[in-house]
Amino acid sequence: MKTITLKTESKNSTIYIGKSILNNIGDICFEKLPKAKKILVVTDSNVAKIYLEKAIKILKEKDKANIYSISFEAGEKSKNLNVYSDIIKAAAMLQFTRDDAFISLGGGVCGDITGFAAATYMRGIKYIQIPTSLLAAIDASIGGKTGVDIKEGKNLIGAFWQPEAVIFDTETLKTLPEMEYKNGLGEAIKYAILDGGDICKILKTGLDENNIEDFVYLCAQSKVNIVEKDEKEGSIRALLNLGHTIGHAEEAVSEYSIQHGMAVADGILVMVHAAKKNKEITEEEYKEIKSLIEKYDVGTGINFSLDTLMPFVFHDKKAKNDGINVVVIKGIGKCEIKKMSFEEFGEYIK
Ligand SMILES: NC(=O)c1ccc[n+]([C@@H]2O[C@H](COP(=O)([O-])OP(=O)(O)OC[C@H]3O[C@@H](n4cnc5c(N)ncnc54)[C@H](O)[C@@H]3O)[C@@H](O)[C@H]2O)c1
Ligand SMILES: [Zn+2]
Repeated sequence: MKTITLKTESKNSTIYIGKSILNNIGDICFEKLPKAKKILVVTDSNVAKIYLEKAIKILKEKDKANIYSISFEAGEKSKNLNVYSDIIKAAAMLQFTRDDAFISLGGGVCGDITGFAAATYMRGIKYIQIPTSLLAAIDASIGGKTGVDIKEGKNLIGAFWQPEAVIFDTETLKTLPEMEYKNGLGEAIKYAILDGGDICKILKTGLDENNIEDFVYLCAQSKVNIVEKDEKEGSIRALLNLGHTIGHAEEAVSEYSIQHGMAVADGILVMVHAAKKNKEITEEEYKEIKSLIEKYDVGTGINFSLDTLMPFVFHDKKAKNDGINVVVIKGIGKCEIKKMSFEEFGEYIK
């Protein structure tokens, strides 16, 4: 098992990564939630079928708190105010106090909504993330961004709220559908370009059961390094948006039928083409990044025209009134944030 401590102004949270550590959630949760008399485990319908009974059994073995659970229909469509309100109402009906806590057991959807419920129930209670998807393990469960979607846009309502702990059991990936695994790899390629180094090395040699723990650890560490310097995205946290300007626009154009990580991989491809065109990277570096994306067959292969995408770029929630912060690839392990007007961005990626 590997651990990382994420230190922010609001708290220190511990990230645990290891094989079969779902068996240790009782010990970890009660160490991190010493005052909790009640715990609500939030999960989705797919994850509930596979892991909920086991998780509850392990938590109950400690006999330190009453364990309750609530599950919602799996999928991004559930990251909404109704499901959020169901969680809050369940906690209120069960008379949860400020000492009690939530646990998210599932992918990024479950983590974001549970985190937001924790951030707002009684103005904030403790919570723990147990990510079960690759995307949630390397990205969504870390860093304290929580929220829900509304019809007008994804993640438009949210809060920064750090979990007490993140516990990732690499064995849970065995039941993750292949498409969801690829979805996580889209975000993983983002870390490979941002960091280079060992993340890139593992992806080049081949990600497998033997190196997945190291790999998730390296990606998580990469995110931790950035979040510790800039928790609320005032500056360098925006680096984590590499590929996301086009990625978000694609998701919106497709009415969210395209998965997030796949759209991000498309966005990275657009940025790597642009970097080559603008002579910011060498032909070699271009080929290296492109071959990584091809090796793992991430990206949708769908090509939306710039005219179709640009209106959605204007409306992205990351856009500022006078333009956007674009993450520009200057090489593997070398990315920079550049402020561009919408016209400049259009020119840059054309
Ligand atoms: N908070 C952040 O910093 C952050 C960062 C990146 C993404 N996100 C959010 O994360 C969400 C995407 O996360 P996701 O890709 O995990 O989606 P998800 O939570 O919908 O999970 C994907 C699918 O896999 C299933 N699943 C998850 N784990 C499983 C397992 N072990 N076995 C079988 N099935 C399993 C789920 O039921 C679901 O159908 C988006 O809403 C995105 O906005 C948040
Ligand atoms: Zn993302």
